[in-house]
Amino acid sequence: MKVIVGTKEEVVSQAAQRYVDLLAKKPDAVLGLATGSTPLGLYAELARLCAEGKLSFAEAKSFNLDEYIGLDGTHDQSYRYFMDRNLFDHIDIKRENTHVPSGFVKDDAEAERYDAEIAAAGGIDLQLLGIGHNGHIGFNEPLTPFTSLTHIVKLTESTREANKRFFKSIDEVPTHAVTMGIHTVMQSRSIILMAFGEGKADIIRKTVMGRPEISVPASLLQLHEDVTLYLDHEAASVLN
Ligand code: F6R
Repeated sequence: MKVIVGTKEEVVSQAAQRYVDLLAKKPDAVLGLATGSTPLGLYAELARLCAEGKLSFAEAKSFNLDEYIGLDGTHDQSYRYFMDRNLFDHIDIKRENTHVPSGFVKDDAEAERYDAEIAAAGGIDLQLLGIGHNGHIGFNEPLTPFTSLTHIVKLTESTREANKRFFKSIDEVPTHAVTMGIHTVMQSRSIILMAFGEGKADIIRKTVMGRPEISVPASLLQLHEDVTLYLDHEAASVLN
């Protein structure tokens, strides 16, 4: 694992450069994308660079990590809606080349078709991840099997609590989500994980310095050969 530490602005700018370099070399790259508060600065920077003509997503494809079960793309808390508003509306990606798992799959067999779609697109070149306080990546909560493909998950109460800030009340937070699995994520050629703020410091320490184990899903990224963590000083504060 490579760890890059700086101010949030510095690491966002370095992460954005990865997209500039990748898309210059491979304009039709396949990007794995995330939602949540962590990628917002990066998405704003990508939009700025795109507006300035410094990168283009015109031939790129994207696959998002996850979606809430039961929310369609018109719901303002769906991850499709989030992606449209925070990134896709501001860059030149073709909407038909953007993929977010369907929040209406009925079982894992149907959810797994997302893995087949990713494979048919050539596999993910660069996967972006945030990290939950319990080490989840995507919605792969602790103890998710290493071999998991895209599947339906029951969200832990801590994840629902963490996400209730976006809903009117905890009761409105969906109980299930569909997420790429750990295996899906590990198949990506390169992975970027971003984390900001003191609240992520402990889990970043376990991710980087703990043994890779399924009780801390993000720690499994140690087993991937091309992972870079972009951390602000606060998130990196207990790494030593
Ligand atoms: C989002 C996702 C989640 C978030 C994580 C951190 O698509 O898959 O794993 O990355 O919950 O969320 P924030 O960035 O809001 O702290």
